[in-house]
Amino acid sequence: MKLRTLVGCVVAGVLATGSAMAQQAQPIVIKFSHVVAADTPKGKAAEMFKKMAEERTKGRVKVEVYPNSQLYKDKEELEALQLGAVQMLAPSLAKFGPLGVKEFEVFDLPYIFPSKEVLRAVTDGPIGLSLLKKLESKGIIGLGYWDNGFKVLSANKPLKSPADVKSLKMRIQSSKVLDAEMRALGALPQVMAFSEVYQALQTGVVDGTENPPSNMYTQKMHEVQKHATLTNHGYLGYAVIVNKKFWEGLPADIRATLEGAMNESTRFANAIAQQENDDALAGMKASGKTEFHQPTKEEQEAWRSALLPVHKDMESRVGGDLIKAIYKESEKFGFKN
Ligand code: LMR
Repeated sequence: MKLRTLVGCVVAGVLATGSAMAQQAQPIVIKFSHVVAADTPKGKAAEMFKKMAEERTKGRVKVEVYPNSQLYKDKEELEALQLGAVQMLAPSLAKFGPLGVKEFEVFDLPYIFPSKEVLRAVTDGPIGLSLLKKLESKGIIGLGYWDNGFKVLSANKPLKSPADVKSLKMRIQSSKVLDAEMRALGALPQVMAFSEVYQALQTGVVDGTENPPSNMYTQKMHEVQKHATLTNHGYLGYAVIVNKKFWEGLPADIRATLEGAMNESTRFANAIAQQENDDALAGMKASGKTEFHQPTKEEQEAWRSALLPVHKDMESRVGGDLIKAIYKESEKFGFKN
């Protein structure tokens, strides 16, 4: 080989290796969109996942977290996931109906979980798994369940009994079970994206809402709601979901590493959620803007008897067998249904 040709080959080889390295150096990007503040159980767990995923893949994966509906609002983010415009989300379990997996709304039934242990047995057991499996036909894979917490009811008037909610316009998430819940109280439910709630409360488009303290505080809803009652009548949690095509197209070693990071982020989310909500409630109480009412035993009974019929009414929506299976889990912990 002539010297010139040899040099040419060497140069070409170096260039090819360089470009292969450059290609390899391009990280796989995971866009993780969510609608709550960074300073919430979900926001913190998303950041934890980012940190672990990037460290453990040694930079081969880059996770971009977009909090506070920065990229998409509730409904749009699900469409964006299916289209592949984002790769990861953690929508609340109340928001899967529009995707065609309405069974997730079972989590919205009032008082369905008598304790966190029952909830965990449901999410970590066969019921939780079979619900996540239902997402696959929609091009989505469910990776785990993240807690937020139990909800308080808020408005600009004291809410001591179900009669106080009558005729109030109450913002809800897009769940038919939540619609039925508000109707059972005689309220007028209005579905609205999370990012619009503060302004709707401020301007009187709606009178009140329900949310765990962490969401209420971080969205400053306590500044525009004079009263709240600690009913803990319903649960709000999330499923972390990814675009199936994207996830299955990842190199196997990367996917395994990300699954490990996700499992730890899930444990982290579920370990901090209660404290985050306790702190948020304490913060709101200290601000003095919202007056929080702790229902008496009798009042709590009145809320329960107004809301429990929703279980029966929603059998056709979420499935009677699914409701019974959750009752069975709670019986294992000594609760009666
Ligand atoms: C809501 O819309 O109230 C919640 O789903 C927001 C969230 O993601 O916690």
